Amino acid sequence: MAGVVLESGERQAGDYVVEVIGLKKVYRSNGIDTYALNGVELRVRRGEFIAIVGPSGSGKSTLLNMLGALDKPTEGKVIIDGVDITTLSDNKRAELRNEKIGFVFQSYNLIPRIDVLRNVELPLVLRGISPAERRRKALEMLEEVGLADKARNKPNQLSGGQQQRVAIARALVTDPSIILADEPTGNLDSKSGQAIVELFKTLNRKGRTIIVVTHNMEVARETNRIIYLRDGRVEREEIP
Ligand SMILES: Nc1ncnc2c1ncn2[C@@H]1O[C@H](COP(=O)(O)OP(=O)(O)OP(=O)(O)O)[C@@H](O)[C@H]1O
Ligand SMILES: [Mg+2]
Repeated sequence: MAGVVLESGERQAGDYVVEVIGLKKVYRSNGIDTYALNGVELRVRRGEFIAIVGPSGSGKSTLLNMLGALDKPTEGKVIIDGVDITTLSDNKRAELRNEKIGFVFQSYNLIPRIDVLRNVELPLVLRGISPAERRRKALEMLEEVGLADKARNKPNQLSGGQQQRVAIARALVTDPSIILADEPTGNLDSKSGQAIVELFKTLNRKGRTIIVVTHNMEVARETNRIIYLRDGRVEREEIP
């Protein structure tokens, strides 16, 4: 596992599912540079459940997009499962994203014209998995999020909280190393939001690594570790 710095002799490189080193992201528009990220350092162990909080504009979504291999940094490294994703070609990055990352968006991003089961199957279509196997896996994930009975409904026939659970099932179906969620409860009332948090806690107890960006401190306090971002840097962290 080249490029992985070990903290101590006994620790295996595989302990960290994510390592972020000196991460910077500069956006240039109208001749003005905005440092969305300005030297982020972060390590996440396998099986952790982490919240990233901070003021609007502090760089939370930018950081999550870098962790999810959706975008390239200006400087620094993002190492996922021992692979520095910042040096990969766009194709390789897309491949790694499909293989290792489950992304959950605030707005669910479900495809309205196809049913819930097909939505959850989609990441497996990209991987060339057979239809029978896809169906089996997708149903298993829908069961995991408590929505097997909605498999044949269209997304708009579900409540917001249920749609977000479908989006989580879709993120899980490839068995990713890490689940990233940007404001997953942002569009939900507090009860539906709490159901999503409970689902994440259950998935985490089963060993899933989860990173959630949130404005909501009640959500953040349910995790194992809170990372406070400010002005594109990690300001401090807290074990709730
Ligand atoms: N595509 C872009 N072009 C230019 N500037 C950008 C772009 N994306 C983000 N920024 C800037 O980078 C900074 C960080 O944005 P980011 O979206 O990461 O913040 P955030 O912490 O997620 O905020 P919020 O809580 O409002 O979602 C902001 O100043 C933002 O204006
Ligand atoms: Mg954001």
